[in-house]
Amino acid sequence: MLADKDRIFTNLYGYQSYGLDAAKKRGDWDGTKELLAKGVDWIIDEMKSSGLRGRGGAGFPTGLKWSFMPKESDGRPHYLVVNADEGEPGTCKDREIMRHDPHKLIEGCLVAGFAMRACAAYIYIRGEFVHEAKVLEDAIAECYKAGLIGDDACGSGYKFDVYVHRGAGAYICGEETALIESLEGKKGQPRLKPPFPANVGLYGCPSTVNNVESIAVAPTILRRGGAWFASLGRENNTGTKLFCISGHVNNPCNVEEEMGIPLKELIEKHAGGVRGGWDNLLAVIPGGSSVHMIPKSVCDTVLMDFDSLRAEGTGLGTAAVIVMDKSTDIVRAIARLSEFYHHESCGQCTPCREGTGWMSRVMIRMVSGEAELDEIDMLLDVTRKVEGHTICALGDAAAWPIQGLFRHFRPEVERRILEYKNSRTAA
Ligand SMILES: Cc1cc2nc3c(=O)[nH]c(=O)nc-3n(C[C@H](O)[C@H](O)[C@H](O)COP(=O)(O)O)c2cc1C
Ligand code: SF4
Repeated sequence: MLADKDRIFTNLYGYQSYGLDAAKKRGDWDGTKELLAKGVDWIIDEMKSSGLRGRGGAGFPTGLKWSFMPKESDGRPHYLVVNADEGEPGTCKDREIMRHDPHKLIEGCLVAGFAMRACAAYIYIRGEFVHEAKVLEDAIAECYKAGLIGDDACGSGYKFDVYVHRGAGAYICGEETALIESLEGKKGQPRLKPPFPANVGLYGCPSTVNNVESIAVAPTILRRGGAWFASLGRENNTGTKLFCISGHVNNPCNVEEEMGIPLKELIEKHAGGVRGGWDNLLAVIPGGSSVHMIPKSVCDTVLMDFDSLRAEGTGLGTAAVIVMDKSTDIVRAIARLSEFYHHESCGQCTPCREGTGWMSRVMIRMVSGEAELDEIDMLLDVTRKVEGHTICALGDAAAWPIQGLFRHFRPEVERRILEYKNSRTAA
């Protein structure tokens, strides 16, 4: 279990004030000027040596991503964009950072922005987070007043601004290029890559998009050293991580734990165990709705990190652990997710626009068994035609939950189809 001394988010539950004085007592904004004075290369090297992988879902190494920003300016400004859209079903960790520990994020914006020679950070927050946006704006105002950001951030001579921009509740605006489009005032639709944002991002300028958690852990990593962060977790899967545990557990919660904690331990120690006991567990979706589910037999031993979950054919994603006990109608649960992806498809690419609707309609019939047995393979074939053939990863996200269902629970769907057929014959 993560020792308290290694905890980064010490006000995750909001027991103390989010304000600047309390945040400083917790260690935020301590020696920030000295961190900046160590220079851009030092910051990026420390981030690289920490092994931090992006907390927004894809797990791309953060230090490496920062190093992709141009070293010299060609006259265009550089921007940091913070992804606070948090639309992934089951995920509710960035919300807690912003409402209870906003100074970690703002200080993170400064050190990350400085390392990328950015003049400003735009925090794109989902529209529903009204309270969190207000807290962030309060905290940003405190920072300007105290000279921590602004014309001479922390007395470093570096000018850095932080803006909050509220979205309007579209899941697709969490995809980094759709987010950039939306920030520019356009319809939130993903862009084709290349060019990548580090070359052509916000307003056509070099930009980097990072998740809230990725940015909020940066100041602590720099203060304590990349080696400290890398000493937690496992190789290539380092550090601490916020896990969001929801569904059929006795105590749904957010918790900061060491990367690589066994899933069973995570659920039993922090979420009060599965409702009705561990043996009542049916399956878990371990990384937000966009990854394959895993059945109990895998949950018994799997570790919660990028590589362990990938080895089981699923992913850590946003580390939102959705627990389903044996009372769950597992087919209906996945049909519900299919409906979600259909609703959220931006409609730009044909496989996603048509495929998500088609998959959703077939999944709805699978719930009642009102389908033919050979439609299962047809459905799986369609998921594979959507997967990897779209502009953004929403297509994959729509395909994977269905693939996970049939990988582990195909007999249950077959049973429903046969039962429905028999009931029709008897009638
Ligand atoms: C459909 C879709 C929705 C996404 N939503 C979010 C989101 O709400 N928050 C987030 O941080 N990343 C989201 N992402 C991932 C971002 O595109 C991007 O990879 C991430 O913000 C990068 O940050 P990181 O490197 O710090 O992980 C989404 C991706 C897709 C395809
Ligand atoms: S995959 Fe779907 S959501 Fe992504 S760009 Fe294509 S149509 Fe839009």
